[in-house]
Amino acid sequence: MLRSAIIGVGGFLPETVQTNEDLAKFVDTSDAWIQERTGIRKRHRARDDQPVSDLALEASKRALAAAGRTADQLDLIVVATTTPDMTFPSTASILQRKLGAPVLTAFDVQAVCSGFVYAMSVADGFVARGLSQCALVVGAEAMTRLMDYTDRGTCVLFGDGAGAVVVEPVEGQGTTADRGLLGFSLRSDGTKQDLLYVDGGPSTTGTVGKLRMVGNHVFKHAVVNISEAVVSAAKVAGVEVSEVDWFIPHQANQRILKGVADRLGIDEAKVISTVADHANTSAASIPLAMDVAVRDGRIKPGDLLLMEAMGGGLTWGACVVRY
Ligand code: ACO
Repeated sequence: MLRSAIIGVGGFLPETVQTNEDLAKFVDTSDAWIQERTGIRKRHRARDDQPVSDLALEASKRALAAAGRTADQLDLIVVATTTPDMTFPSTASILQRKLGAPVLTAFDVQAVCSGFVYAMSVADGFVARGLSQCALVVGAEAMTRLMDYTDRGTCVLFGDGAGAVVVEPVEGQGTTADRGLLGFSLRSDGTKQDLLYVDGGPSTTGTVGKLRMVGNHVFKHAVVNISEAVVSAAKVAGVEVSEVDWFIPHQANQRILKGVADRLGIDEAKVISTVADHANTSAASIPLAMDVAVRDGRIKPGDLLLMEAMGGGLTWGACVVRY
């Protein structure tokens, strides 16, 4: 059977860094509060003339280089983003042009912070059916564009960045020893929309809008819901959570990361955490964290990876991948 294997990963963070102290100069907050409640120390911020497709482009080039592939070999691009360059065309189509990739299948996936997990499952629908021989899956966000800097409960939490993986079909035996995506679970509960949303859109206000969140309610949902999705994805994959080598959660808040890991009995040493340096980069956070851990040598070929996320929708999900 065909499996969808990640053969290269890349990440990109815009050059401008904003520390908690920088924010405290114009927001009623403090480094101590942000670190204690979230674990965040700093975040990267895209320049006004740096659209999300530019962040995606750099991450994609790095993923292609790591995979030993070139843009002309791609036949599918899926971009998970909630901060596209434009209402249309899709950021995936813009990225295709900037990469100089040939005519291929390209589209965006919108599941907010869960976008990368959703996009991996979508790509798997092409790759594992033999419909794509070389796919690029990207999570790219400029979340700082959606911040209301008079709302200290949200504006300190988010950052910008992009992460990308190259995914190709590999022959597997249908066992948990196979390389590639072994299982996933995806969830959405639209009745929880008011807990986390952006108060604008093309067919409502005609504006982009600002992010609104009832943080403590989202927090409570996160730990319980994510744990259920993780257990479900592990069951589909046929593995025990205890077998996982590396846990790569969506990087929203260090307390959520710890809460989920504790609930699932995952050792803290197996948790990849970049939230201190990246903050919450929404759909980009998982591939960015994976990129860090692949490049520093923690994640090695053959390792079993568990990824999970939760975001606006509310949406959430998890996937199990053997790297
Ligand atoms: N600086 C200082 N004080 C602050 C700040 C700040 N930046 N923000 C809030 N406070 C204050 C509040 O005003 C409140 O003060 P009060 O008690 O005088 O009213 C107090 O801190 C406590 O506020 P809470 O919101 O209850 O704080 P909490 O401990 O819940 O932490 C946080 C807030 C960090 C937002 C947390 O709830 C959280 O991380 N939630 C989940 C976020 C998340 O995971 N989102 C999902 C992904 S995002 C996406 O999908 C787009």
